[in-house]
Amino acid sequence: MLTTDLCRTLGVELPIWNAGMGGGLAGPALAAAVSNAGGLGVLGMGGLPEPVVREQVRETRMLTDRPFGVNLIMPLLEDDTPIDCCLEERVPVLVLFWGDPGPYVERAHAVGTRLVSQVGSVAEAEAAARAGVDAVVIQGVEAGGHVRGVESLSVVLPATVDAVAPLPVVASGGIADGRGLAAALTLGAQAVSLGTRFLCSDESRAAYKDRVVAATAADTYYTTLFDVGWPDATHRVLRNRVVDEWVAAGSPASGQREGEGEVTGKMPVGGQTIELPRYSIFMPMDGFEGDLDASVLYAGESCSLVNDVRPAADIVATLTAEAGALRTAG
Ligand SMILES: Cc1cc2nc3c(=O)[nH]c(=O)nc-3n(C[C@H](O)[C@H](O)[C@H](O)COP(=O)(O)O)c2cc1C
Repeated sequence: MLTTDLCRTLGVELPIWNAGMGGGLAGPALAAAVSNAGGLGVLGMGGLPEPVVREQVRETRMLTDRPFGVNLIMPLLEDDTPIDCCLEERVPVLVLFWGDPGPYVERAHAVGTRLVSQVGSVAEAEAAARAGVDAVVIQGVEAGGHVRGVESLSVVLPATVDAVAPLPVVASGGIADGRGLAAALTLGAQAVSLGTRFLCSDESRAAYKDRVVAATAADTYYTTLFDVGWPDATHRVLRNRVVDEWVAAGSPASGQREGEGEVTGKMPVGGQTIELPRYSIFMPMDGFEGDLDASVLYAGESCSLVNDVRPAADIVATLTAEAGALRTAG
C-alpha cells in the first residue's frame, strides 16, 4: 500500500531507504538487510578507494538478490575510479552527494544504473533534474552527517516536489518513524532516506550508537569543525567534549585550534588501520580504539526519536506498519 511509482521503477516494494552513510558505516550487512526487508539498501562508500568499493558491492550481492544502491561523496573522490567501478558492477542505483551529477548521467543510463543526486535546495534539485537524473533526494537542515540542506524538510520538500515534477523526490532529514514517513509521502515524497535511525541498527558499523540513543535534538550541533579530510563542509554532530572545548575557546579558525594534528584514535578501514587526527571527518566505527569525546559523532535531530538499537529489518517493518495505519486512517 505504501508502494510508489519510484518503488516500481526501482523494483522495490517499500519507499524506505537507508542513507548511504560513508566510510562503510552503511556496509553490506545494513544495505542487504534493508533491501531484503523490501526497502532500498544503500552502501555508504564515501571516502573509500575503488578496490574497497568493488569488494563491498560484491559482498552485498552475496547477501541479497534485491536492488540496492551505492552512495559516493563527490568532493572525496580523488578520481572517477569509484564511480567507474559502480558502473562496471552495474549497481542498480548510484547516489551522488555534493556535486554535479551531469557528467555521469549518460554513462549510468547506458549500463542500466539509475542515477540519483542528494541535493540541499530547490535550485540544486532543478539543476540535477535538467542534467537528467532519475530522482533527487532533498535534504533538510535537520539532517545528520554532512548537511547541504539549509531549510527545514517540511518546507523544502513540497517546494522541491513542485519545482521538479514529475521527477521523483526522496525526503531526507529528521525522519525516524512511521509518522515521519507518512508525513513525507503526504508532502509529495516518493521515498524517505533515513540516516540516524539506521545508524542505530544492529547492522550499522557505528561505534557510538549508545550516544545517539541517549541524545536529543538539542544535543546536536551544526558546524564546520570536523574538517580534516574535507574542509568547509557543514555537518551536524553530537556535542561532545571536543565540540564544547572549541566553542569555549571562542570557535577558533582551522589552523589555530587546540591539539591539531594530535592522533585521537585509530580504526580499521578497508583492510588497513588508519590513524584519526583530532578534527578528522572519519567517525568511530567497528574496531575503533580511542576517545569518543575527541571524535566526530555525526547524528541528526531525529536522534530525539531514536530510543533503541534494533535489527534493520525490524526498523523497516515498524516504519511500514505505522505509516500504513496512518495512510489508511487518512
Ligand atoms: C553518520 C552519518 C553519515 C552520513 N554519511 C553520508 C554520506 O556518506 N553520503 C551522503 O550522501 N549522506 C550522508 N549522510 C547524510 C544522509 O544522507 C542523510 O541526509 C541524513 O542522515 C538525513 O538525516 P537523518 O540522519 O535525520 O535521517 C550521513 C548521515 C549520517 C548520520
